[in-house]
Amino acid sequence: MDFNGMTVAITGAASGIGHATALTAARRGARIVALDRDGQALEDRRAQFEADGLALFPFALDIGDEASVRCSVDAISQVTPSVDLLVNSAGIVSRGLLENTTADEWERVLSVNLSGSFYCIQQMVPLLKAGTGRAVVNVASLASKRVSYTGGVAYTAAKAGILGLTRHAAFELAGDGIRVNAVCPGPVLTAMTKNATSEEDRQKVAAMVPLGAWLEPEDIAESILFLGSPAARMITGTSLDIDGGLSLVTGSSYEAYRRARQ
Ligand SMILES: NC(=O)c1ccc[n+]([C@@H]2O[C@H](COP(=O)([O-])OP(=O)(O)OC[C@H]3O[C@@H](n4cnc5c(N)ncnc54)[C@H](O)[C@@H]3O)[C@@H](O)[C@H]2O)c1
Repeated sequence: MDFNGMTVAITGAASGIGHATALTAARRGARIVALDRDGQALEDRRAQFEADGLALFPFALDIGDEASVRCSVDAISQVTPSVDLLVNSAGIVSRGLLENTTADEWERVLSVNLSGSFYCIQQMVPLLKAGTGRAVVNVASLASKRVSYTGGVAYTAAKAGILGLTRHAAFELAGDGIRVNAVCPGPVLTAMTKNATSEEDRQKVAAMVPLGAWLEPEDIAESILFLGSPAARMITGTSLDIDGGLSLVTGSSYEAYRRARQ
């Protein structure tokens, strides 16, 4: 997939899946508009990209705050007249049980993980219409369809909402030729999951994945860029599970399933 001459805007671009997507797209010729709340990490990424001869324009914002998104999109319009692909990857996890999830925590997780993608799509529509790529990819989760193991109830609810947002945006924006799809990653080794799990937990998770390992951020980046490229020109409103087969597992671990048959 060639992204030469394309402008790709990515939220959560300073880390994990967002960063891997930025690097992969940039190596294929894209200019990256990188959005993240961590301004220092963005500056570090910009320096790394520059050292490799790649283009990254950093914008620090809080995607859960509509005014912050508006301000950034105004600033983005000063450096580029169009965006070809928007990737909504920024997200947070909360860990509590339903009974002790506070209203503040619920609202924060929903505002970042669900409303943030809505604000970014809505406010970037003019830039997307001005581009030729005309694609949006939302990073949902297996939790969109099941329950989150790493996060809590607010995370599962927000990620389920992302699929509704994806379908509805795809339906409405089809008239402008803008495609909207989602990816549903299984367990991916990033700062988010490393901070929330022990080494022992991670081994147990790996044993449950039929393909036998955690996913790497690059595995998700490849699918995001496929859905965001002209190769997927007639795909819209759908979601792609990228999970090493984890969603095929019905009950106990994959290892246990095989052991019981040997
Ligand atoms: N890692 C996994 O196993 C996994 C699985 C399924 C889905 N996801 C989803 O993938 C996406 C990326 O997660 P990751 O694993 O790369 O995590 P990560 O923590 O490595 O990266 C998330 C990035 O989002 C940024 N961010 C957080 N809140 C923000 C805000 N309010 N405004 C702007 N930026 C903000 C962070 O600074 C960080 O750079 C998230 O939406 C996550 O829910 C991850």
